Amino acid sequence: MVTRISPAKAVVTGGVQSLNTGSRRQVRSLPPVNAEPTSPLEGATIVVLGGTSGLGLATAELAVARGAGRVVIGGRDRDRLAAALALLGPTAEGRQVDGSGEAAIKDFLTGIGPFDHLLVTPSKLVPTAVVDADADAVRPAMDLRFWAAFHASRHAAPLLRPDGSITLMSGIAGTRPMAREAVAGASCAAVEALMRSLVSELAPIRCNVLSPGYVDTPLLDGFFGAARDTKVAAIAGQLPGRRIGSPAEVADAALFLMGNHYMNGHVLTIDGGHTLV
Ligand SMILES: NC(=O)c1ccc[n+]([C@@H]2O[C@H](COP(=O)([O-])OP(=O)(O)OC[C@H]3O[C@@H](n4cnc5c(N)ncnc54)[C@H](OP(=O)(O)O)[C@@H]3O)[C@@H](O)[C@H]2O)c1
Repeated sequence: MVTRISPAKAVVTGGVQSLNTGSRRQVRSLPPVNAEPTSPLEGATIVVLGGTSGLGLATAELAVARGAGRVVIGGRDRDRLAAALALLGPTAEGRQVDGSGEAAIKDFLTGIGPFDHLLVTPSKLVPTAVVDADADAVRPAMDLRFWAAFHASRHAAPLLRPDGSITLMSGIAGTRPMAREAVAGASCAAVEALMRSLVSELAPIRCNVLSPGYVDTPLLDGFFGAARDTKVAAIAGQLPGRRIGSPAEVADAALFLMGNHYMNGHVLTIDGGHTLV
């Protein structure tokens, strides 16, 4: 007879760890690891600042599918927010918020109350060569990603549960220089440096960064304009897998960072091998 175990309940026991402390051996229990990669987020409250489109929305969608108890998304555009909430269903709620201002971020987060995990995605891209740049025009590309991450992290800290996490968003431009993307790259590197300091400052709350390569989201519409399809095809042709990423693949990585309680202080690159070619 085969006994079926509900996947949501299946766990791999952590067993015991022997600590060799000289003459005496201490044995302590290790936390169990869920056999279902989705279960650590079951019932959790997950907040996505910049969750009405692209990677943030895909993460919210996957969190709902994996049993999150409450998913709260934020973005500036009212119609986009309404469309995202209609897609996500009753587990989700949303608030309009402009992540370029500290007061608005604070209001957004404190209005939610205690929560488990935070993902911060807003950024602005202003592609330009350094030597040609109008510094005032390009400054928002530096400011939005960094300061949204900074303010969201500091105002989330008192609200996050101790076993919770913060995931910030960078991009491979931070480590793999790209033409006309010096400022985007610098903003990504700044967020990665911020995260490393937050790990100590906010402990035991975990902090990580997700660094995607090209992913098929509405961001690419604005980035490439009318040339989008041609540009994406050209990029895809250079990648080992001959395609760019899907939002769901990045969402899966975001939920891994939230759900695995030993992931702390890392930049997780998900780029189909782009940084190697
Ligand atoms: N897609 C890629 O290929 C790729 C590659 C590397 C890195 N990334 C990074 O991944 C992150 C998400 O990108 P995506 O592709 O998901 O972009 P997206 O589809 O354009 O989504 C961006 C989200 O952020 C929100 N947002 C933008 N500015 C905001 C602000 N000032 N305040 C609050 N919310 C704001 C947008 O809603 P509203 O506009 O309504 O506010 C939307 O919900 C970005 O940091 C991006 O740089 C993306």
